[in-house]
Amino acid sequence: MDKNLKLYLTTIFTAAFLVFLRLGSSYIFDFALNEVLFFTAALLILSNMSMLFNSISKVITSMNLPILLTTFVVLNPFWAAVVSAVGTTEFKTRESGFIWFKFLFNRAVFFLSAAAGALAFNFTQARLGESGFPFSALLAASLIYFLVDNILVYIVLYLAENDIKQTSLINYFFELSKNLVTSYFIGIILFASYIYFGKVFFALVIVLLYVIKDFFYSRLQQINSYTQIVESFLKVIDSKDHYTEGHCKRVAYYTYHLCKQLGLSKTKSEKIINVAKIHDIGKIYVNDEVLKSSDKLSNTQYQEIKKHAVYGYQLLKDIDILKEELDVLLHHHERWDGTGYPDGLSEKEIPIGARILNITDSFDVMTTGRSYKAPLTKMETIEELEICSGSQFDPEIAAEMIKLIEDGHFDNNFLREDLISEYQFSIEY
Ligand SMILES: [Fe+2]
Ligand SMILES: [Fe+2]
Repeated sequence: MDKNLKLYLTTIFTAAFLVFLRLGSSYIFDFALNEVLFFTAALLILSNMSMLFNSISKVITSMNLPILLTTFVVLNPFWAAVVSAVGTTEFKTRESGFIWFKFLFNRAVFFLSAAAGALAFNFTQARLGESGFPFSALLAASLIYFLVDNILVYIVLYLAENDIKQTSLINYFFELSKNLVTSYFIGIILFASYIYFGKVFFALVIVLLYVIKDFFYSRLQQINSYTQIVESFLKVIDSKDHYTEGHCKRVAYYTYHLCKQLGLSKTKSEKIINVAKIHDIGKIYVNDEVLKSSDKLSNTQYQEIKKHAVYGYQLLKDIDILKEELDVLLHHHERWDGTGYPDGLSEKEIPIGARILNITDSFDVMTTGRSYKAPLTKMETIEELEICSGSQFDPEIAAEMIKLIEDGHFDNNFLREDLISEYQFSIEY
């Protein structure tokens, strides 16, 4: 082991021991058995939750601090620190092996951080004489706990030559400070549950928070795999149909703006935008000659290409995470007057996402043109949208699209050619 690391570990062990003696001499006999056992058990269960329940998420935002905040109020600094040191013990599976100095270091850090947090709580409480709910004292305690904990850990990571050298101290703390804010608020909720409703309720809230976190984590994973699926589909569409290369991406970009203009909720908009990105996926089943034909399509060819909406729907209908949005894909060629395909739905029978997509899809065709048709100018596009409003397009949505165009939102897209392919679009909320 590195000499500096050895020296550092010795310092931490000594410091923890001295603080243990000092606090112990004042508080060791002020011992509330029930509370000490309750909080230690709560921490132990949470620290080992992923092992017990085979949970999919590791405890990302650690629940240690939120639980400890209540101990700072209920217990004295000595016992709060002991609860912290003992309760955070992880009973790991054998794989990683037991490293005694790592184990001791973790105990020492949890002891010192909690002792500092509890003392900060008492100090602030005494100074401010905060009556009622101790918001400020708990905030001070969280901050001090957070600083001591992370500085001590940062130093050991630094000395042990982990990746951390590439991350500056400021970055390291910036990333972690997000956890601090969450921890503080969760801590406040837990403390309030404990004070007003007792131990059982406190435990229930922890379980509830854990379930919610798991839910969000799995949702996050779903979104990630969704994005990957969409990216692969985009490649497939582009390789099949060079002429419309980038079409789905551009339509998604227009759809994003139109959803925003219409004031749709973020969740709803995201779903529609996601469909926009793959709305023509069904074209992979359409005959190459039809797709690549540079002449105006014959009636048979047109019938063939019309099938892409149903093909796309069939292709994706068994993928669970895509299910909800598929109606939008299936109906993106329905028309307001009921003469569209595949089902001839009219007006509000058509899902709103499909009505939006129909407009943004056509807008891209108008502005990029086809081999047999030159792209339209800004004025011509607006005119075209006006003409088709009420027949092909939902008049209200078309009016909003026209507003966007008039306000110059898509001016770059009328310049077409190189600019469009270079257009970097990112969807940000
Ligand atoms: Fe289409
Ligand atoms: Fe399309």
